[in-house]
Amino acid sequence: MAEPLGGRHPRPDAVMKVAGSARYVGDLALPGMLHAAIVAAPGAPARVVSLDLEPARAVPGVEAVLAAGDVPGANLVGTIFPDQPLLVEDRVRMVGDRLALVAARTPEAAWTAAAAVEPELEPLPGVHDPVEALEPGAPVVHESGNLVRTFRVRRNAGGDGAASAPVVVEAEYRIGGQEHAYLEPQGCLAIPESRSRITIVASCQCPFYVQHAVARVLGLPLASVRVRQAHTGGGFGGKEDYPSEVAACAAVLAFATGRPVRLIYSREYDLQATTKRHAMVVRHRWGADTDGRLLFAEVESFLDAGAYVGLSTVVAERANVSAIGPYHVPSVKVDTHVVHTNNLFGGAYRGFGAPQVTWAHEATMDRLARAVGVDPVEIRRRNLLTGESCTTCTGQELPSPVLAGACLDRATELAAAWTGSATVAPSPHLRRGTGVALVLYGCNLHHGGQFLDRSSAVVILQPDASAIVRVGLTEMGQGNLASAQTVAAQALGLDPSRVEVWEPDTATVADSGPTVASRGAHSTGLAILDAVRRLRRRLDPVAAGLLGCAPGEVELADGVARVAGDPSRAVPLERVLGEMTARRIETIATGWWRSRPRWFDEATGLGSPYETYAFACHVAQVAVDPELGLVRVEHVAAAHDVGRILHRDAIEGQIQGGIVQAMGWGLLERLELDRGRLLNPSFTDYLIPTASDTPEISMALLEDAPGAGPFGAKGIGEPSFIPTAAAIRNAVCDALGIEIDRLPFTPPVIVDALGTAHPFADLLD
Ligand code: MTE
Ligand code: MOS
Repeated sequence: MAEPLGGRHPRPDAVMKVAGSARYVGDLALPGMLHAAIVAAPGAPARVVSLDLEPARAVPGVEAVLAAGDVPGANLVGTIFPDQPLLVEDRVRMVGDRLALVAARTPEAAWTAAAAVEPELEPLPGVHDPVEALEPGAPVVHESGNLVRTFRVRRNAGGDGAASAPVVVEAEYRIGGQEHAYLEPQGCLAIPESRSRITIVASCQCPFYVQHAVARVLGLPLASVRVRQAHTGGGFGGKEDYPSEVAACAAVLAFATGRPVRLIYSREYDLQATTKRHAMVVRHRWGADTDGRLLFAEVESFLDAGAYVGLSTVVAERANVSAIGPYHVPSVKVDTHVVHTNNLFGGAYRGFGAPQVTWAHEATMDRLARAVGVDPVEIRRRNLLTGESCTTCTGQELPSPVLAGACLDRATELAAAWTGSATVAPSPHLRRGTGVALVLYGCNLHHGGQFLDRSSAVVILQPDASAIVRVGLTEMGQGNLASAQTVAAQALGLDPSRVEVWEPDTATVADSGPTVASRGAHSTGLAILDAVRRLRRRLDPVAAGLLGCAPGEVELADGVARVAGDPSRAVPLERVLGEMTARRIETIATGWWRSRPRWFDEATGLGSPYETYAFACHVAQVAVDPELGLVRVEHVAAAHDVGRILHRDAIEGQIQGGIVQAMGWGLLERLELDRGRLLNPSFTDYLIPTASDTPEISMALLEDAPGAGPFGAKGIGEPSFIPTAAAIRNAVCDALGIEIDRLPFTPPVIVDALGTAHPFADLLD
């Protein structure tokens, strides 16, 4: 049997997903089930003058229509700050805000009834730009003011470097948001079990958040709310906090009617109303000596939080400490403002604020390279964190080895192999360019979210030497089941096919926090290892008795228990378990993991926001048609500091998917907003990349710097996304010989930046 660790054994969820047997929320139905719909505000901001729900009640098939006063518990949602009503009482703050809920016998009746309500709204002045929202006299979104919070880093700020740097580059970057475009829209099924308990089956990343939200709106103890994760067709951060709102709606209707209620968003409503990657404005003033060695960096960022705080403050926390990237800078000043507007609300999206600031710092590094007259790779080499100068911008010392330079070397080596290999047919007017980008990714939750950085697991050994594993973190396509299975199989010496990992259910494991921050494999894996350690306290003495050795000498591998150092003395694990069963020895154990405490000072932004870091470097080659403003990404080389490979296919899949998703953000995806209303709420008008846009991808996985995860693993879920759009930006600018400082690079943006008339200008807006 090959070792599970680092292998390519089939992912446990692969066949059921490919064959269509995995049941998603949309496949679940129960007798008597009702369908829910939402009466949504068509414009914002506004005051509710009157809300007549009778037209909805008159639609045949409608069983319940509820407004704010009908919520049995608190009429509030919001993961960090409960600043958002489940159902609006008097003030609409964003398009799509919920005014009422409908339950009907068919989805058609429910949505028809919802559309039949014509609320009378008095429009109020709104604000739609995060910089304007801070100006005096700007309309206020919440009475507390538009500035939610400012995060800061101050490290030798205002030192000599800032005054005397001979080379200074300045820029303002305007970076657009992004829709998650998960395969499956938001949805859940709420099943009232009695008047005092409820089960929710949800498409979600964070079942424990859903549990808390439902308990609050129903006024129930947490123990009376059970949340099971249904197979989830992608989350990408969009199913971190938002599913709590969906479940709260379905739960309130289910309790009011006493019937199971399923709520599935239409794609249009999903696009309009759910969270997005934050649009950001990032201002830079960075200085260097004449060799391009950085002396100071000043960054001021504005995150468009939209109408509610949601997760914006935690996204800003990461953006704040990631603003300088993997560079050694003696003097650092960062201000990151979280600002309310009446736009769509910003939320978690793969990278959590880091992709935006990375796009900016990598653009600035290229600017600096041009200002000093050195190559973009060389300017990075001169400034990267290395063995001698290995303190991050928050003053955190990184232990060696630090793989920033190694990632740059490996990615540029892979890129060197492309020479002469264009994937687009040569044409005299096409221009080619290459761009490089690096990232320093803080693994797991930021210091501010450390209290959530924990994880629970249960391992139950079966008499036939198979194992049931229960975990608290979710699978959403990224491979959490595969990593959990691999870790358990490796620790128990079993073939992965004998380890069954079940999707999370809040009734069977302790609150494990959210599945975010690329912490899945890390947190789940370490909890599993803890459970296995506890099981072995009971298993090893039994095996030792059969082997005639000391319990400390027992090792598990290849489906047997054997004497360490003498593999010929072995008994099948099945026999050991048979013996444990016969002697009625407990074969279940729980496991627990929590992150180690760290020091961080919120006021100065100094300290250790993360326990460990992962580095990555992406190099992109593009072909640009300057007349049409079209970009084809031909190749991407990706080098990642992964600590230790748990499941090779899962890691490679993350890197491929991250690159394509980031390519969409960088080039295509544009949220067209008109006073907060999304003008392109469909995948006909909001374009995402398809398989045919996928570039050739080559990758290097570096295992020389073990992380704090199981067997030394580090998260890959987000680092795989973060550098790509920046590398593409730099490649396009290299091809065209100009700087473009707004994202996405849609054709009009490129053509405008070149200052030439687009041949089809009439067809473009
Ligand atoms: N990959 C797939 N296929 N689907 C997803 O929803 N989410 C991303 C990333 N990769 C996602 C994905 C995000 S936002 C995060 S935080 C991580 O996976 C979470 O999973 P992990 O902690 O297991 O890496
Ligand atoms: Mo990922 S944005 O941390 O869910």
